Amino acid sequence: MKETLKNTLDKPIVLVGMMGVGKSRLGQALAHALEIEFFDSDALVEERAGRSIPEVFEEFGETKFRQAERNAIFDLLEKGPCVIATGGGAVTTPETLKAIKDRAVSVWLQADLKTIMARVAENEDRPLLQTEDPEGTLKGLMQARESLYAQADIHFDTSLGEPNKLTKALIKSLCEYCNVG
Ligand code: S3P
Repeated sequence: MKETLKNTLDKPIVLVGMMGVGKSRLGQALAHALEIEFFDSDALVEERAGRSIPEVFEEFGETKFRQAERNAIFDLLEKGPCVIATGGGAVTTPETLKAIKDRAVSVWLQADLKTIMARVAENEDRPLLQTEDPEGTLKGLMQARESLYAQADIHFDTSLGEPNKLTKALIKSLCEYCNVG
């Protein structure tokens, strides 16, 4: 099944969803299982800017970050079959969302607010959450973005279990979507 999916795939698999939902972790596991390359749009923005994401936000602001993110994703979409993890806000740039929908199999990784909050609480590398009320901010972002994430081809619940089980379930969803038996 996995082999057939790999052979059928003629475009990238793009993971979208809120920060802390596990796009990079699950994306790496998926790419490893399918023996295809993994890319991370945030990592490419950082590499090109020679700065961390918080530094990019601080020095250039969110608008410039979104442009750099758009450019990174457009370039990654040219890579052919691979797995691409995107930053949580990538879908808020209409051009980026359209390109993802047109040129990839898109997957919305879902988790509830509590789970996401627990995952992002420990580090300070999310500039948008450096507010008085991170949980309220996160909730607002989730609500504002839901209808954008929902445009993805596949909706995938990440609360299903441990990483191995999740990777297998995601492969199953992709096979169903791609009509691979
Ligand atoms: C952002 C999510 C981050 C990163 C930036 C902005 C967002 O990526 O791109 O901090 O707007 O939700 P992750 O989703 O990988 O944390």
